[in-house]
Amino acid sequence: MADINAKNAGQYRFDDDFVVNRLGYGTMQLTGKGVWGPYPDPDRAVSVVRKAIDLGVNFFDTADSYGPWFADRYLAAGLQGAANRDALFISDKVGQTRIGPNQWIPLGVPAYLRQQVEVSLMTLGIDHEDLLFLHRIDAHVPLADQVGELQKLKDEGKIRHIGLSQVTLDQLKEAQKYARIDAVENLYNVANHSDDDIVDYAEAQHMAFVPWFPLNTGKLTGTDSPLESIAKKYGVSPAQIALAWLLKRSPNILPIPGTSNPAHLADNVAAANVQLSETDFHRLN
Ligand SMILES: NC(=O)c1ccc[n+]([C@@H]2O[C@H](COP(=O)([O-])OP(=O)(O)OC[C@H]3O[C@@H](n4cnc5c(N)ncnc54)[C@H](OP(=O)(O)O)[C@@H]3O)[C@@H](O)[C@H]2O)c1
Repeated sequence: MADINAKNAGQYRFDDDFVVNRLGYGTMQLTGKGVWGPYPDPDRAVSVVRKAIDLGVNFFDTADSYGPWFADRYLAAGLQGAANRDALFISDKVGQTRIGPNQWIPLGVPAYLRQQVEVSLMTLGIDHEDLLFLHRIDAHVPLADQVGELQKLKDEGKIRHIGLSQVTLDQLKEAQKYARIDAVENLYNVANHSDDDIVDYAEAQHMAFVPWFPLNTGKLTGTDSPLESIAKKYGVSPAQIALAWLLKRSPNILPIPGTSNPAHLADNVAAANVQLSETDFHRLN
């Protein structure tokens, strides 16, 4: 059986030469229902993070708004003491407030963005953010002020790379006037690739593209997945086909499938070994 390791997905190099394995992990499933409150089994949440490290994952996507704070606590506990801690990259997000299950309200007031970064550094036990996304643009605050505050934090050494999440191409281009943008995180998967133009732009600009909902919230997995027949042909799971499609779509794509299930985690990382043929890739398009 092929070795299950995220390094088999290939690597992506950021401009400061930090290299990540392209198959990452997203922490959003490590919370209660509605991305609210603690995960019911905190030890399992921490063990999933540790297992991801064991499987070669070194790109972790998180946000203080997951829980809020609970996912970050499990992530911090899982990363603590890792032998390769310096090779583990955290992609974090600011700009959302939480007031209850499934409730998300953007808030891009610069002082709030700064507070979130300062608190997240403490929660995660780090002295800088490897990559910090503006989770959502707050329509009530000038974009120049929101991105400008992230640039100030970068100048102070608290952020290494700035990203934007769920943006249009026009918003992305406007933000580039105020700061260097190194990554975009938008909804994107084989069943929903309406942001193809942004993927192509990111590749041309040497920006990472981090697709959220890479498994379409699980709808692409399981026996009723629309990918079931092609998965059978390759002798792999539908989740692996969904991830292999993303990995083949662009060398700048860093998928971050979320799971709280150790078996699903291993299944997802094993997608790094799946090579879709050109014909099947285009058929899935
Ligand atoms: N920037 C943004 O606005 C934004 C928005 C949403 C999400 N995100 C990020 O994107 C990450 C991924 O999104 P997501 O976790 O919501 O959705 P997802 O990765 O598309 O799907 C996760 C769902 O699929 C299931 N699953 C995962 N692997 C599986 C497998 N191999 N077989 C069967 N089921 C499987 C999970 O359940 P189990 O736990 O049972 O495996 C979970 O219900 C998040 O963790 C978060 O970091 C960012």
